Amino acid sequence: MKNIFITGGGGYIGTNLTKKLLSKGYNVTVLDTFWFGNHLKKNKKLKILQKDIRNINSKDLKKIDCVMHLASIANDPAAELDAKLTWDVNVLATYKLINMSVAQKVKKFIFASSGSVYGIKKEKKVTENLTLEPISEYNKSKMIGERILLSYKKKIDLTILRPATVCGFSPAMRLDVAINALTFGALKNNIITVFGGKQIRPNLTMYDMISAYIFALKRKYKCNREIDDTIFNLGFENLSILNMAKRVQKSIKNNSELIVKKSNDPRSYRQNSDRILKKGFKPKKKIEDAINEIKLKFKEKKIINDKSFYRINTLKLIKAK
Ligand SMILES: NC(=O)c1ccc[n+]([C@@H]2O[C@H](COP(=O)([O-])OP(=O)(O)OC[C@H]3O[C@@H](n4cnc5c(N)ncnc54)[C@H](O)[C@@H]3O)[C@@H](O)[C@H]2O)c1
Repeated sequence: MKNIFITGGGGYIGTNLTKKLLSKGYNVTVLDTFWFGNHLKKNKKLKILQKDIRNINSKDLKKIDCVMHLASIANDPAAELDAKLTWDVNVLATYKLINMSVAQKVKKFIFASSGSVYGIKKEKKVTENLTLEPISEYNKSKMIGERILLSYKKKIDLTILRPATVCGFSPAMRLDVAINALTFGALKNNIITVFGGKQIRPNLTMYDMISAYIFALKRKYKCNREIDDTIFNLGFENLSILNMAKRVQKSIKNNSELIVKKSNDPRSYRQNSDRILKKGFKPKKKIEDAINEIKLKFKEKKIINDKSFYRINTLKLIKAK
């Protein structure tokens, strides 16, 4: 497994993943529209295809050993903005990509699904065996993306990751995700605003997210895995939003004011990730590590209030064109 193809390799997670894979000596091809900028540094082992995944062709996948599929309209409000675009990118392009990957004899395929596919669950242990009840276009498109990929699992070594909300720094930063947004509010305005607060959400640090992709990549090649060896939750700290805010407040130590506002966002769920732990994956970081990393990068002026750090702003501009 030497030649890795990452769709969405210019995004929040993809930028760090690309950097990590290059540092480990892999040849990496990134396919991305770079809607949110290109923060990848030049590297002789890095090939960049600036194009839309909807226009991928088989030649792009020549001699590729593993596809990591991250490109997508990647959160609820952005996905609601243009449902057709969301389904075209998140579902139809996924179908095109897996078809071409199988035809090009790609060995492994790793898919960035989402822990949000479960919808609202009362169960304390939201394991991979529970039914999926997605409530938004984003969640639904991820679920259907998974189902398409599962229909190919006899032909390719498939892993589907269902990550919780990721936190931590990336040069292609996102400030529209929970811990990052709360931390940025505390650093920039000395205010932490919480909407609702009681909703429980699972979290995952950027460090552990990247490690999970490497973990999936390094698993021994195997086609037609059992479902319990294919789909994995990745969420390690299930916290209420209010609790997250309190932990941000404690870590930042700048006497930030905590403001609680009403919310009409009912999404509340936990994730149980015992399945991947049993396979030997070990998360190493806590949300405090991510908060401190953001604090450091903020001091270094690497996190400014860039419009593209809120994905919906850029997508609104694209839609308006
Ligand atoms: N960030 C999280 O908390 C989180 C949690 C669970 C799952 N995920 C999933 O992980 C993946 C990466 O998330 P992220 O936070 O890095 O998102 P992101 O929005 O930062 O990155 C997505 C990247 O995909 C690219 N892209 C989008 N549509 C494209 C298209 N049609 N053709 C080519 N490139 C396209 C964008 O330019 C961007 O660089 C996504 O699939 C997302 O759904 C993210």
